[in-house]
Amino acid sequence: MKINQSNIKKTKKYLDSNKCVAVPTETVYGLAANAYSGAAVKKIFRLKKRPKTNPLIVHYSKLSKLKKDCFLNNDFFKLYKKFCPGPITFVLKLKKESRISKFVTNNSRSVAVRFPKHKILETLLNKLNYPLAAPSANISSKLSSVSSEDVKEEFGKNITYILDGGKCKIGIESTIVSLFRSPKILRLGGLEVSKIEKILNEKITIDTNPKKKIASGQSKIHYSPGIPIRMRIIKPKKNEAYVLLRKRKNKSIHYFYLSKNNNFNEATKNLYSCLRKIKNKGYKSIAIEKISNKGLGKSINDRLTRASKFK
Ligand code: TXA
Ligand code: MG
Repeated sequence: MKINQSNIKKTKKYLDSNKCVAVPTETVYGLAANAYSGAAVKKIFRLKKRPKTNPLIVHYSKLSKLKKDCFLNNDFFKLYKKFCPGPITFVLKLKKESRISKFVTNNSRSVAVRFPKHKILETLLNKLNYPLAAPSANISSKLSSVSSEDVKEEFGKNITYILDGGKCKIGIESTIVSLFRSPKILRLGGLEVSKIEKILNEKITIDTNPKKKIASGQSKIHYSPGIPIRMRIIKPKKNEAYVLLRKRKNKSIHYFYLSKNNNFNEATKNLYSCLRKIKNKGYKSIAIEKISNKGLGKSINDRLTRASKFK
């Protein structure tokens, strides 16, 4: 998608005056505001109906700017070199002199940060003299948005502006790795854990269902289209939407598919938009065939399992 400078200028104007706007990223759309302004950040929580206790991710385009806000360690540099910009979020130790609003971190000593890979957003970030706090652009616990139309559907007139950046290339949220102490995965996402393990040269604990919740992606019910989802289904019920991983001939007339072949990248990219389409067509429930729990399949199953907890 071409970069429209006048749209970027408009977005900057809104952000500079502490408004909150939707921005595209390679993973999902974000609901962004100046991370250094408490007043701006509070608007995100209000608009999203998000509990104040659930901290936000801060988005940067330059390492030099990140250094002002948190401590960077060796593991960080290894992963940064290999994967940034890209779908990985780091939880790091906050510096005392950081200007990040306490509402972003819920007063914690750690902060989640990432470098999004999207030319339009990178151009915007380079023009701002503050980083952007941005959770996914959806009402709390609902389906994330992967296009500007999705954002419109979520927020209607309540959102000031949506910076259009086309359809998100990855389609699900970033993978969150905590480097606060020893490395730990807090949320599965767009970057496979095995790739992170390879760079750090160690097996990493996956802690996406802890007793004490720190990430909203860890909460049991999330990413929900608002209708029941059944998983690992061979035979769908009569009027149920049936989601297949791979396009092929099928007995159900209500079938949808996530990829043309068995391609997990394509399936991930289509996951949220497929669920949204089914909901908008008026189906009352969704059945999904078994999806193998390998690579990105693991992230897809994580999202579906949480979404399926909706009753
Ligand atoms: O791909 C993404 O990460 C998208 C795009 C917009 O960048 N953002 C996103 O934000 O998914 P959100 O708010 O929907 O999810 C952020 C997650 C939450 O589960 C939050 O609890 C966790 O990050 N988080 C934020 N700060 C944290 C911290 N200090 N320690 C642990 N988890 C944290
Ligand atoms: Mg979210």
